[in-house]
Parts: sequence; structure tokens; C-alpha cells
Amino acid sequence: MYINRYNIYTFIHKALRSVMCQALTKLGRVDDTDVTDIEQNLKDIEKLLSLCLSHLEHENQFIHSILLDKAPGLQLPTIKEHEEHVQHISDIQEEIHKIRLVSPPQRQRCLLSLYRHMAVFLAINFEHMQLEETLMAQRLWDNFSDDEIHHMEQNLVASIPPEQRLETTILILANISHSERRELLAGMRESSSQELFALVVNSLKTHISEPYWQKLNAELQMAA
Ligand SMILES: [Fe+2]
Repeated sequence: MYINRYNIYTFIHKALRSVMCQALTKLGRVDDTDVTDIEQNLKDIEKLLSLCLSHLEHENQFIHSILLDKAPGLQLPTIKEHEEHVQHISDIQEEIHKIRLVSPPQRQRCLLSLYRHMAVFLAINFEHMQLEETLMAQRLWDNFSDDEIHHMEQNLVASIPPEQRLETTILILANISHSERRELLAGMRESSSQELFALVVNSLKTHISEPYWQKLNAELQMAA
């Protein structure tokens, strides 16, 4: 019944899963005797946490509240889960703050503790994203046309500052499949200015492998 409907969560969640896996793996390998490496890892985790926070705020404001306006009686498990994520993010931010204050002998133990807490937080997020891509997507399809869902997404994207929007676009393009990337870029070429499209293409080139880039370019004829 809903085959080929548009799933608003898929692309951004692929990007998030990639950043989450990379940040956690990097933290596990940290040189816990090197203050510079420790600080870089803490900053990476902080950046990931702020990405998670802005992502859930976007979902609340531009997707889930619109769904509740349309169908006020719906029970959305994501509301409570998002509240729990906000608390979890705040707890981890506090933990990072404390790591910056502890003396070197305690730091190794604290970093391992942070690594484990991040693993649990990301595991919770992985389950949450699965729920959104299945149950929540279904509820959107039940209540809105694909045009209306695209309109929600356009409003969400328009609320993001241009520089951050470009960074997110590249993050998505670098972490979706070849077919998805080709389709998204073809649509962007239709809807964006030549300058913006060129900027996206040039930025993307450094984020995907050469064989992937060559194949994409052969199909879309993007490069000069
Ligand atoms: Fe969410």
C-alpha cells in the first residue's frame, strides 16, 4: 500500500549513524596520555551531541508537531524518547566537563567511562531511529501526501543557517547509497543555482572514494 512512499528520516539518519559510529570508534582509540588528542576527541563528541540535539529539535518542530496538529489523538513514543535524549545529552556534556578538570591519573578511567556511556546513548539512538523510519514514517504516510511531507522537509531545511545546511548536505551525500546520491544530486541540479550545485559537487568530491566519484560523474556529467 505504501510502497515507494517518501521516507523523510532515511537520509539524515544515515548521515547521523555514520558520524556516531566514527566518533565512538575514534574515542575508543584515543591516546589517553596526550592532552591534545583527548581534547580533540572531547570536541568531536560535543559536536556530535549538539548535532543530535538540533536534529531532535528539528523533528519536534517541523515533523512531529505538524503530525499532532493533524491527528491530535495520536500517541507518539518519540515525544518521551526525545525528552530522554535531551537529559542523556545533558548528562554526557556534564561528564565531558568533569573530564577536563580531572588529573591525568584519573583521566584514563573517565575516558573509558565516557566511551561506554556514549555507546549506550548511541545504541538508544539507533533503536529510536529505527522506530522513526518505520512506525513514525507510517503515521506520516497515513496522514500526509508525499508532497506535504516534502513541504515539511523544505521548511525544516530552510530553518538551518546556510553554512550548516551545506555541511549537512555533504554529510548526507557522502553517506547514502550510489543510487540515492545520484537521485538527490539530479534533483538538486534542477532546483539549485549553478554556483550552489558546483559548490556541493566540489565539496562532495573529497568525501567519497575515487571509483564512486568516477561512476557518479560518468552518469551525471557533473565535473567541468
Ligand atoms: Fe528522533
